[in-house]
Amino acid sequence: MNVPLLDLVAQHETIRDSVVPAVMAVIERQTFIMGPEVAALEARIAELCHARHAIACASGTDALLLPLKTLDLEPGDEVIAPAFTFFATAGAIHNAGGTPVFADIDPGTFNIAPEAIEAAITPRSRAIVVVDLYGQMAALERILPLAARHGLAVIEDGAQAIGARRRMDGTWRMAGELASVGTLSFFPSKNLGGWGDGGMIVTQDDATAERLRKLRLHGGAKQYHHEEVGFNSRLDTLQAAVLLAKLPFLAGWSAARRAHAARYTEAFAAGGVVTPPVTDPANEHIFHQYTIRAPRRDALQAHLKERGIGSAVYYPTGLHLQPCFAELGYTRGSLPATEQAMAEVLSLPIYPELTSGQQDAVISAVEEFYA
Ligand SMILES: Cc1ncc(COP(=O)(O)O)c(C=O)c1O
Repeated sequence: MNVPLLDLVAQHETIRDSVVPAVMAVIERQTFIMGPEVAALEARIAELCHARHAIACASGTDALLLPLKTLDLEPGDEVIAPAFTFFATAGAIHNAGGTPVFADIDPGTFNIAPEAIEAAITPRSRAIVVVDLYGQMAALERILPLAARHGLAVIEDGAQAIGARRRMDGTWRMAGELASVGTLSFFPSKNLGGWGDGGMIVTQDDATAERLRKLRLHGGAKQYHHEEVGFNSRLDTLQAAVLLAKLPFLAGWSAARRAHAARYTEAFAAGGVVTPPVTDPANEHIFHQYTIRAPRRDALQAHLKERGIGSAVYYPTGLHLQPCFAELGYTRGSLPATEQAMAEVLSLPIYPELTSGQQDAVISAVEEFYA
């Protein structure tokens, strides 16, 4: 049985009648830049994230770059981040003029470890980028007070965590709600994916929001008047129309992912060979990825491939070992938990439309490999 890692065609079949007319409306109106769907999407995402402001931009990468630019980093200023994440997390720090300082992860949740952040703080630290990896939030109730004590901004990279929430002090808090700014990606494979690139920044802070709105439009609120040098980082109206049409389905999709995750975890826990992902009990996970730790991971992946089952390694190389960051001086052994995860993780198909037959095929193929 063929089981892809992600099946956007299956998704499209269920939503065609909602999305295609929304796109056609933009085409008929010919308002491709900052059309009304952009502001409408911003309002809906602000509501979802419990944020005062949502600022749409061109990608999840720019959603990190723009807030980092608002920090006006000087050469040598440090931004602490995990190395076990997608490249954009650290690429944006570099492109904003900062120096990434990598902190190790919690081996259970794969998220940045608060004690590793604390150990990485120096007099040059300016900010922390926290990633809500695979769709569950990092331990913000520990990280935010630490950041406040040291006067550091917290940028929550929620590219994989739209709609995820975490119970803190008895209250559910959304991904992006409590950090200085939160970011989202609408890359097509994300839980809420566009038909191209897109991103969003959320914040409670009025001044930050105003600056971000300028930065995405070449640094000027008024046309042909530029207070600073910014970027062309708008979200296309067409993408906003797609995302607005898809947004009502998001909660159901994330619930389906959670149900699939529960089924995998039950099977793998019973099998006792691969380690299912750990959900921090404080979190409601959205399972952007379902990521196991697997002995002989590469051989398992090859076995699954032979049986037509898609899987992926997110991420095979920690950012501290990327050639572009060699001058930062990290070596193998610098971040042991990150390096162990690099060698062991494997993400399995978890998309909402996965059938129970397909999921059975994945579980059987894993069991067969270790039998
Ligand atoms: C953790 C993380 N940060 C940032 C990004 C960048 O988002 P985009 O691909 O929309 O630029 C991604 C997406 O791939 C991501 O997974």
